[in-house]
Amino acid sequence: MVRRTELARDRFYIRAKEEGFRARSAYKLKEIEAKFRIIKRGDTVIDLGAAPGGWSQVASELVGAHGVVISVDLQHIEPIEGVVTLRGDITDQESTIKLLKDALMVHGLHGRGNDSAAAAAVVLSDAAPKLSGNRAYDHYRSFELSKAALGIATALLKPGGNFVAKIFQGEYYRAFYNAVKDVFHDTRAYTPKASHKRSAEVFVIGKGFKALK
Ligand SMILES: C[S@@+](CC[C@H](N)C(=O)[O-])C[C@H]1O[C@@H](n2cnc3c(N)ncnc32)[C@H](O)[C@@H]1O
Repeated sequence: MVRRTELARDRFYIRAKEEGFRARSAYKLKEIEAKFRIIKRGDTVIDLGAAPGGWSQVASELVGAHGVVISVDLQHIEPIEGVVTLRGDITDQESTIKLLKDALMVHGLHGRGNDSAAAAAVVLSDAAPKLSGNRAYDHYRSFELSKAALGIATALLKPGGNFVAKIFQGEYYRAFYNAVKDVFHDTRAYTPKASHKRSAEVFVIGKGFKALK
């Protein structure tokens, strides 16, 4: 757990305030982008577990005026220019996929044929459970969110698409990493400098979604 006083001294927190980002986590995505080149101009990006919207702000800057960012969270996300914000529970994969397909259709973003599946270039997930303080339990719940994000990515990414998902380290970390490795050509794990030192979080990055047979 990070205390308020620690946050106040935190250089990423201060920078986020100064630069107009809603969350210091924006700098985690910026570091990931600088290292792995995930998002291109004109891309359609899906951001899962997106509130309050720091990652969506960064993604929106990267895709530019010809791209689209569609964000989902359990909580309300205050409107962000260029971002479609939706409310949903990503562990209910079926409903989230339907919600996202409908949003893609509305924006005229079709994949193969007239289906809005396979329309997204990038799926991001910074989703995290409310921390209970029990590391094993928190890890398992984070694993469930990451697995759900991977299921949604598999349904909506076009071949060659990219994926980033946060997971807390623990027993099921390797299983999740291997599941990403199965469906992407290049899989890496990365912890940005902006992650709190005592945090167990790691980001699994999949590049080049394999075409489904
Ligand atoms: C660390 S915050 C995300 C911060 C965000 N990337 C940003 O830059 O503003 C984690 C988010 O995951 C969301 N979340 C947790 N469980 C979720 C679920 N089942 N479905 C959707 N969102 C979820 C939380 O509501 C929370 O807003």
